[in-house]
Amino acid sequence: MAMYAFFYCAFFLGVSSEFVWKHHNNEELSAILEEVHENCPNITRVYALTEPSVRNVPLYVIEFSDTPGFHQPYKPEVKYVGNIHGNEVLGRELLLGLAYYLCEEYNKHDRRIRNLIHNTRIHLLPSMNPDGWQLSTDTGGQDFLLGRNNNHSVDLNRNFPDLDAITFEFERQGISHNNHLLKDLTRLAAPLEPETRAVMRWIMSVPFVLSAAMHGGDLVANYPYDESRSGAPVSEYSASPDDDTFRELAMTYAEAHADMASANRPGCRFGDESNAYNFGKQGGVTNGAAWYSLRGGMQDFNYLATNAFEVTLELGCQKYPYEKDLEKEWLRNKDALLAYIWKAHTGIKGIVKDDSGFIQNAVISVVNITDSVPRPIRHDITSGIYGDYYRLLTPGHYEVTASHPGYFPVSRVVTVPTHQTSARILNFKLEPTTSWFDDYTFGVYPHGLRDGQPRIYKRSLYHKVANAMLDKTH
Ligand SMILES: *[C@@H]1O[C@H](CO)[C@@H](O)[C@H](O)[C@H]1NC(C)=O
Ligand SMILES: *[C@@H]1O[C@H](CO)[C@@H](O)[C@H](O)[C@H]1NC(C)=O
Ligand SMILES: *[C@@H]1O[C@H](CO)[C@@H](O)[C@H](O)[C@H]1NC(C)=O
Ligand SMILES: [Zn+2]
Repeated sequence: MAMYAFFYCAFFLGVSSEFVWKHHNNEELSAILEEVHENCPNITRVYALTEPSVRNVPLYVIEFSDTPGFHQPYKPEVKYVGNIHGNEVLGRELLLGLAYYLCEEYNKHDRRIRNLIHNTRIHLLPSMNPDGWQLSTDTGGQDFLLGRNNNHSVDLNRNFPDLDAITFEFERQGISHNNHLLKDLTRLAAPLEPETRAVMRWIMSVPFVLSAAMHGGDLVANYPYDESRSGAPVSEYSASPDDDTFRELAMTYAEAHADMASANRPGCRFGDESNAYNFGKQGGVTNGAAWYSLRGGMQDFNYLATNAFEVTLELGCQKYPYEKDLEKEWLRNKDALLAYIWKAHTGIKGIVKDDSGFIQNAVISVVNITDSVPRPIRHDITSGIYGDYYRLLTPGHYEVTASHPGYFPVSRVVTVPTHQTSARILNFKLEPTTSWFDDYTFGVYPHGLRDGQPRIYKRSLYHKVANAMLDKTH
């Protein structure tokens, strides 16, 4: 059957070979992406980031979408980034395999894959550090550190602006500003590397909702924050405002993986057997700083500079697996790779507009009203060029407020159900403050509002609750 499909495609589309599981070098990497594009011209686009690596290797991305090259409202954008550490190579090969698989299944009319691609814009960057990959490969691939850094000997996953320091300082001072913090940056700890700059521009210019970066050396899905609040080097849980959501995202990968979440598998051993710890005992997930703290990582940068939620996937004990194990690893990761992309369709999404059109940069703030005590989630999301926003959330009840200077804020109550394959749609129409306005007085939070029922008031519950909670801690 597989052979038949292969010959059928090869005959009618003039397509070349089957995907081979091997370590693809930097030229082969771009050739594979081109080949996938030739097999699936209508749903893919290959592009390079704005800058190449230090040694001038382009950072290639393949995009899957039924509108390649264009963002569409209601369609969330997802990315996978592999090989940021040059000697951690499994993610690189998995992403090439995933690109091949998505195209092949699409052409075979697989309903689930077609549905995914028609409703999601997916970007795959197989290698963020092709120079490190080259050095690691040229030196045998088995050194724990050789090839980790870029060609300037800089660890790219320590080279992003440290926005954690800013958000922690704002927390201490009781300042409610909690998102898109790059404009609050006053100095860089170190110059940005070309690979970092290229990825930063990419992250800032595409409205990503969900992301994962792939590493190796352990088997665990790691979620923000990576940096501890106190500066403790290890073992300090550093929760972000979206801790529940991040935990669920990480668990989605771990649980769909062959054994990341298994309590019985062996832990990873590094020389001395005493430090073999099996993260499966805690469900295959960990908070970043609860493991060890790091500054300047890409994961926290995504969350604090943009609307994107990123987790870090440690894909196995072996940083540079043997070629013969790659296909087995693909089969162990395939379901998880797909299940994670589907998480971009959880929570809520919608469009913010007024009488004349879309409102860009509207602020979407959320209060969790699932329990009797309303709890604001102090990380706001903003709307994009079509006024569209995407707010990942776990199942529960929420009050969502859309606001923008010059408009009266609008709040709506929504229930996020379990097992979503499509985010709940919650649109907002804002009235300019200059127009006639019916002044509803707002006092105690009225329970029992029906889902989606619009409510208008001048002072949002979010600020009221947030201020009350901040007052208590000072
Ligand atoms: C691409 O789209 C065109 C126009 O809709 C169609 O004729 C063509 O068959 C499609 N090609 C593939 C490979 O799906
Ligand atoms: C940089 O790349 C050159 C050429 O591949 C290589 O000889 C050199 O060892 C690399 N340096 C580092 C620090 O990776
Ligand atoms: C909201 O609260 C409920 C109940 O405590 C919890 O299960 C859910 O994860 C919370 N949602 C978020 C996004 O934190
Ligand atoms: Zn790594």
